[in-house]
Amino acid sequence: MPIVNRIAALHDEVTAWRRDLHEHPELQFDVHRTAGIVADKLKEFGCDEVVTGIGRTGVVGIIKGAKSSSGKVIGLRADMDALPLTEMSGKPHASKIPGKMHACGHDGHTAMLLGAAKYLAETRNFDGTVAVIFQPAEEGEKGGQAMVDDGMMERFGIQEVYGMHNAPGLPVGAFALRPGPLLAAVDNFTIHVEGKGGHAAKPHLAIDTVLVASHIVTAAQSIVARNVNPLENAVVSICAFNAGFANNVIPQTAELRGTVRTLSAEVRAFVEKRLREVAEGTAALFGAKATLTYEHVVPVTVNDEAKTPFAVEAAAAVVGEASVDRDATPVMGGEDFSYMLNARPGAFIFIGQGDTASVHHPAYDFNDEIIPIGMSYWAKLVESRLAA
Ligand code: NI
Repeated sequence: MPIVNRIAALHDEVTAWRRDLHEHPELQFDVHRTAGIVADKLKEFGCDEVVTGIGRTGVVGIIKGAKSSSGKVIGLRADMDALPLTEMSGKPHASKIPGKMHACGHDGHTAMLLGAAKYLAETRNFDGTVAVIFQPAEEGEKGGQAMVDDGMMERFGIQEVYGMHNAPGLPVGAFALRPGPLLAAVDNFTIHVEGKGGHAAKPHLAIDTVLVASHIVTAAQSIVARNVNPLENAVVSICAFNAGFANNVIPQTAELRGTVRTLSAEVRAFVEKRLREVAEGTAALFGAKATLTYEHVVPVTVNDEAKTPFAVEAAAAVVGEASVDRDATPVMGGEDFSYMLNARPGAFIFIGQGDTASVHHPAYDFNDEIIPIGMSYWAKLVESRLAA
């Protein structure tokens, strides 16, 4: 496997960075220690420019190639934040902070992009400019959008963007991606049901919100089964049902909370519209009132048709043609790199992390074995897309 010698030589050093980040997880935008380490290292590597505080706590490093006649600028992105979980991996480098852990491998993503930045700043064997992008708040607070809204693309003249995420279950030494939608749009919703509280023995004088909300839960499952085109994709999951407190009191209110996942803007808008109609209409049937609050969290992650082949080519150069799945099945999870892909064309790729615990599981740990593969992918992508 063509791992560049210099990159193979960085394996131990980058593993030590990764494990240090793993021991000190930080959440959402509150990634001050991590962002500080990233910025210090980028300066130490000799990046031409290092800018902190983009999108609150994001960091961007600029590395100019030995030549700059192409005028091209490409962005490579890693995420820095951890999750509110208590780690149970039993590893010597496990989280030192109860209630916080790197359960999605963003420590590995950050370390691999730092390693690639070190290699690129040393070698500069490309024609153009690379922006290495380290974003906060991938896990639900839209750090990717915050960096885009802060003018990052314009400020550094970024023309294309590429992202990478580890994938448990995909073998070590494999990559997977596809042109078009790769990850879903994520929306969260709350349905507030207002009825009429009363004595459990006198239901005729009350409007029972437990019954009304139960019908809404059932009817909501007809949206995907009976309304969405069967050749399209959608998920409606209601994951919280809160009502009542006593055996003999019919509650005045009930609250349902859940999430919607879709792979196109059209289906996304349709499911939102149907969910509102189903909630309001079902409640009205029983004389109750339902109010839907709907939050768009992240859009669909769409790989650009014209740029995806560059990612495929770079991955194949590292692991061989046969180990790159270029028609991967889309995932109904979401990724806020979608905000960057909406701003600039590019591609997101999954890197195999082998047979480990799944992401967001307390026993998960990033697989350090894949560090040279990920770093080589970044290096190949730059050296081929910005060929000198
Ligand atoms: Ni993640």
